[in-house]
Amino acid sequence: MSDRVYIFDTTLRDGEQSPGATMNTQEKIAMAQQLEKLGVDIIEAGFPAASQGDFEAVQAIAASVSKIQVAGLCRAMVPDIDRAWDAVKGAKNPRIHTFIATSDIHMTHKLQKSPDEVLEMTRKAVSHAASLTKNVEWSAEDASRSDWEFLVKITEVAIACGATTVNIPDTVGYTQPFEYYKLIKYLMETVPNASKAIFSVHCHNDLGLAVANTLAAIQAGARQAEVTVSGIGERAGNASLEEVIMALNTRKEMYQIETGVDTEQIFPSCRLLSQIIGQPIPPYKAIVGANAFAHESGIHQDGMLKNPLTYEIMTPRAVGRAGTNIVIGKHSGSHAIKAKVEELGYHLTDEQLAVVFTAVKGLADKKVQLHDEDVEAMVLEKVHRKRDRYRIKDMSVFSGAGDVPPHAAVVMEFVEGDKVIREKQVTKFGVGSVDAVFGCVCELVDVHPTLESYQVSAVTGGTDALAGVSVRIEDHGIRAVGRANDGDVIKASAMAFVNALNRLEKTKEEKREWPSL
Ligand code: KIV
Ligand code: ZN
Repeated sequence: MSDRVYIFDTTLRDGEQSPGATMNTQEKIAMAQQLEKLGVDIIEAGFPAASQGDFEAVQAIAASVSKIQVAGLCRAMVPDIDRAWDAVKGAKNPRIHTFIATSDIHMTHKLQKSPDEVLEMTRKAVSHAASLTKNVEWSAEDASRSDWEFLVKITEVAIACGATTVNIPDTVGYTQPFEYYKLIKYLMETVPNASKAIFSVHCHNDLGLAVANTLAAIQAGARQAEVTVSGIGERAGNASLEEVIMALNTRKEMYQIETGVDTEQIFPSCRLLSQIIGQPIPPYKAIVGANAFAHESGIHQDGMLKNPLTYEIMTPRAVGRAGTNIVIGKHSGSHAIKAKVEELGYHLTDEQLAVVFTAVKGLADKKVQLHDEDVEAMVLEKVHRKRDRYRIKDMSVFSGAGDVPPHAAVVMEFVEGDKVIREKQVTKFGVGSVDAVFGCVCELVDVHPTLESYQVSAVTGGTDALAGVSVRIEDHGIRAVGRANDGDVIKASAMAFVNALNRLEKTKEEKREWPSL
C-alpha cells in the first residue's frame, strides 16, 4: 500500500458552511491559490448546483489554479452532476464528487428511499459521472452510522461503476478512533474491488475527535484525508488540516506517511483565512494559535533556554511562523512591496499592486515599521473590496465626556459598477461613538440589522497598531460578516459595518438555497 496520503481540502465547500464564513469569489480565489501554494492535492471548490453564484465561483476557482485537482460537490442526481461537471471542467484536473446518504436514519427520514433505491441511485449517478471524467469521488454520507454490510455492498457498486475515490465520512462526528479504524480496515479488506479505489475519510468535530479519527483511519489504510484550514466547517467543524499534517510530520517514525504539503505555508494559509472570514485564530488553537509556541511557566522557560527540544515538539519556523527577511517601512520601494506581497502568497496584477503600494506607503507614513499583517491587511482592504455597493466617503465623530452626547456625521457613496451614482449624508446621536456611526450608516442605507457580534483586536502590537474590527450582522434570517483594518478604531468599525452590509446585500442577491446535506 502506498505511503502517500492525498490531502483533499474542503475549506471552500464544507468550510464555507461554517456559520459566518461566507467568502466572495475573489476571496475564494485568493484562498484557492494559497492552498495550491500550500501543496494540497485536491480542493473542493463548492457545490455548483446550490445557486448560480456558487456555480460561477466554482468555475472561476477552477480557472485560477494550475496544478491541483478541483472538485465540485453534487448530490447523486444526474442534473446536479452535470452542473458540477460544467463548473469544474475548465480546471486542469477536474473531479466530480457525488454523494448519497447510506445510514438507515438518513435513508428513511431524509431521502425517504429504501436501501435498494439508494443502491440504484448510486449506480446511476456514479456511472453518469464516470461517463464525463475518470476522476470520480463517491461519498457515503453518514457512513459511520451506516450498516457495515450495506456499506460493503454499496461501496462495491460505486467502485464497479467508476468511482476512483470512495469516501467514508463521519458526517455527524459520532465515531471513535478505534471504531473508525476498524470500519476502514474492514471495508478495505471486505469490499471485493477495494484495491481499485483510494479510500478517503472526512471527519466532523462534534465530539472533538475529527483529527484523531482521521489519523486512525490513515493508520487503517485510508489514503485520502479530507480536511479544512483551521478546522472550519459545518457545526463544530472538520478535521483541521494543520493538525493532521503536523501530527503526520512530527510523528513520522510512527505513521511513515508522506504528503505534498509545504508545512511552512500552514500559518500563512490560516492567517489568510482568518483575514478573509473576519474571525481571529483562537490563541489556544493548536499549531497556529498565538499561544501555541509561547512558554509562560518559569520551569518551561528555563528548559527552553537550555534546549528548545525540552518543551517544543516542532519549531514555529516549520509551520511558517517565523518572521521573514523583507522589512517594509516608509523608504521601501515598489519592488520590496511586490516581493513582500508575493511572499505573503498574493499574485496581484500590476494595477492591483499599484493600489496596494499607495496604501502601504500611506500607512508607512504613519507607522515606523510595518508588519506582515499590516501589508496583508492592505491587500485584502484594497484588492478584495472593489465591488462594494456602499462606501463611506467621509465621517467625523464626537465622543464627548460632558453634556454633549456622542454623535457622528457620515457621508456615504452609493456605487454601481465603478460609478458613484449618489451621495447622501446624515448626523446622529448615539450611546457611544460606534453606536452613533452605525446609526448613521443604517439610516443612510435603510437597512436595520441586528448586530450579533463586534470584535476589535490590534492587528500587531504597539499603540500605532492597525485596529482589526470584525462584525456579524443578521437581517431577516440572513447573516453576514464584515471586517476592516484601520489605524483609527472608529473608522475601522464603520468600515467593517459597511463591509458586512455590502456582503449582506450580495447574499440577498444570490440567496443560496442549499439542498439539505
Ligand atoms: O460530512 C459529510 O458527509 C459531507 C459529505 C458531503 C462528503 O460533507
Ligand atoms: Zn462534511
